[in-house]
This record gives sequence, structure tokens and C-alpha cells, in this order.
Amino acid sequence: MPTPLRIAVLASGRGSNLAALLAARERGELAIEPVLVASDKQSAGALRLAEAANIPTVALNPRSYAQRRDFDADLFTRVADSGAELIVLAGFMRILDGDTLRPWVGRMINIHPSLLPKYRGLHTHRRALEAGDTEHGASVHYVTAELDGGPVIAQARVAITPQDDEDSLAQRLLAHEHRLLPAVVDWIARRRLALGEADRVMLDGVALSAPLRLLDRHLQV
Ligand code: GAR
Repeated sequence: MPTPLRIAVLASGRGSNLAALLAARERGELAIEPVLVASDKQSAGALRLAEAANIPTVALNPRSYAQRRDFDADLFTRVADSGAELIVLAGFMRILDGDTLRPWVGRMINIHPSLLPKYRGLHTHRRALEAGDTEHGASVHYVTAELDGGPVIAQARVAITPQDDEDSLAQRLLAHEHRLLPAVVDWIARRRLALGEADRVMLDGVALSAPLRLLDRHLQV
């Protein structure tokens, strides 16, 4: 196992992706040291999970800040103070200021429930169904100033069935998310993945020509 990678997780909601990371660590499959879980919602389930796991938490209320940038600056100061080497956005539903996040480009990833570049933003499951897609998925990407527009590291795919509605599709995809995110964090912790020049995703020093694919619970080129 590599030296544990210090991670900060930002989450706005229930935190099942955070739970998946913690479970993988518990099983001895993922060398991470979560140093902070931060949220923009005091009520976020992710905070309760972190408290139960004795991980430091912080909830920042966006309304307490005069400007959006002030919130972001405070958030990133706290993350930096935590000693995190990687920021994982796991259901963090606020748009971050491009200038504030710039120092973290290459050290911050996000999981998004679509096959990017399709369906940036919200309501991805509904949009995939409405478009008549036969396939849907989730992506983990490096975060850049462009919303859901950073280089895609890896994707998990699911077939859409005629019986699917928004809820069934979201639920089925979530199970894949819970394998995809730990798999990507594992390869970052093993120093196999990096963001290279011209925003190219590098695996073992070689630029990927397409996102990695999650097959079963393993990433494949
Ligand atoms: C996940 O489906 C994640 O992909 C999505 O929010 C959910 C969080 O669930 N993220 C986004 O939509 C980001 N744009 P969780 O709180 O149970 O991990």
C-alpha cells in the first residue's frame, strides 16, 4: 500500500460517495487519510458520516458571506489548512469561483452523474431519458474553471432499459459511482494519475487518448 493520500471531501448531500471511499479504506483497499469533510449545508448527511468516523468537519453557510468569492476563499483556506493533498468533490452542488480554485487544478476531482461531455449541470438522469439515450453513466474528472468541463479521467457506463425512470436510473448508476470514485482515488494515491500539459490526463506518465473505463470494479485503458 502507498503512503496514505491526505484528502478533503466536499459534499452537499447524503454522502454515499464519501461512504464508499471510507468503506474501501476500511477494507484495506484504499490508502487515504481523510483530513477534512466540508459542506455548504449544515444538514448534509456527509457531515454526520464524517463525525461518526472521527474525521474533522466544517459546515460553512454561504449566506454568511457578502460575496460568493468570499465563501470560496474561506473554504479553500480551510482545505489548505487541513493539509489535504487532493480535494474530492462528492456531491458538492455549488459552483466554485474559477480564480479561487485555480491553485488546485490537477489536485481536485469531481464525480458527475453523466457521460461527460454530455449533460453538464443538473438533472442528468432526466435529460438522458428524455433524449432517448440507451446508455448513461458517471464521470470522474479533474476540476477546472469550466463547470463539469475539466479533463475526464474515468467513466462507468450503464444501459438504460425501457422500464427506467429517473429514480431507478439514478439508483442503478449510484452503485457504479461507488466503485468508480474509489478506483480513481486509488490510482491517484498510487501516483499513477496526474494532470499533464495541455490538460491531458496522464497514466503512468503517458497521456490517455480516452477516459479510463470501469469494468467490474477495475479501471481499464
Ligand atoms: C452523486 O450522484 C454525484 O454524482 C452527484 O451528486 C450525487 C451525490 O450523492 N454529483 C453531482 O451532481 C455534481 N454535479 P451522494 O451525496 O450520495 O454521494
